Amino acid sequence: MLKGRHLIEPGDLTLEELEEILSLADKIIVDPQSFYGVCRGKLLATLFFEPSTRTRLSFEAAMLRLGGKVLGFSDANATSTTKGESLADTIRTVSSYTDVIAMRNPKEGAALLASKYSLVPIINAGDGGHHHPTQTLTDLLTIRASKGGFEGHTIGFCGDLKFGRTVHSLAKALSRYKNNKFILISPPELGIPDYMISEVFEKNNIPYTINERLENVIGDLDILYMTRVQKERFFNEQDYIRLKDSYILNNEKLKLAKKNMIILHPLPRVNEISPEIDSDPRALYFKQVQYGMYARMALIAKLTGAL
Ligand code: CP
Repeated sequence: MLKGRHLIEPGDLTLEELEEILSLADKIIVDPQSFYGVCRGKLLATLFFEPSTRTRLSFEAAMLRLGGKVLGFSDANATSTTKGESLADTIRTVSSYTDVIAMRNPKEGAALLASKYSLVPIINAGDGGHHHPTQTLTDLLTIRASKGGFEGHTIGFCGDLKFGRTVHSLAKALSRYKNNKFILISPPELGIPDYMISEVFEKNNIPYTINERLENVIGDLDILYMTRVQKERFFNEQDYIRLKDSYILNNEKLKLAKKNMIILHPLPRVNEISPEIDSDPRALYFKQVQYGMYARMALIAKLTGAL
């Protein structure tokens, strides 16, 4: 039963519940018009304490396409947070007005905290470098549409694996399926957190290797998940400048890849994927963008109990 539940990280959903959401998203993709009106009378709040293009607008588009309405903010400087109001009190307030809340916050754990005070479902739209579970729904929809399922893949995560919340969420989600292998490609300074290694890979006996060079391993991959080096997570600009161009995927590197490898990226990209790749049939990052809205339509419909 998904009605009334929070979604803070991928492990909050059983595999059956995840399948329920993805199957509904598949049906919405086939005929989105037929779902118009299922959330009539319901209200979504989008509380974005951090910038966003895709996540906020796709949540809003999703609710509007379901026939519901949306309120919220994309700039916390225009809210009573600036007067010192706590997140708990903000959530108590907004959840008194609305039926479901999607929140992005730069602090790890903020979504979990919000869920303790909310009268309605909280959807984590990204909490610092921790998790981004609705990006994972998007990623899983895209993987299944192109690869047919979630088992038996070699997945390469490349770039900022330290702060990359989309990596943490997708790795956790894919680790629940059989016969997957992970290749973690990053400079040592941006390596995946130790808790991911111990709690996700080692605890579940999942094979993983660490490599600094994309060229060394790209030929082994079925799925390449590129990520941006995130300027906003660095305390020291010099470190960002030194690391920002660590990986640039271009046609030359792509020649080393399998013909059926898929390239995913949560976006935004800066220069880690050269635009010359965009027309390659393996480049699915704009397909991910499209699927993001359908995944969020399915999630909103389930958590509000509309379907
Ligand atoms: N993928 C993603 O979270 O994009 P935005 O930061 O634009 O929402």
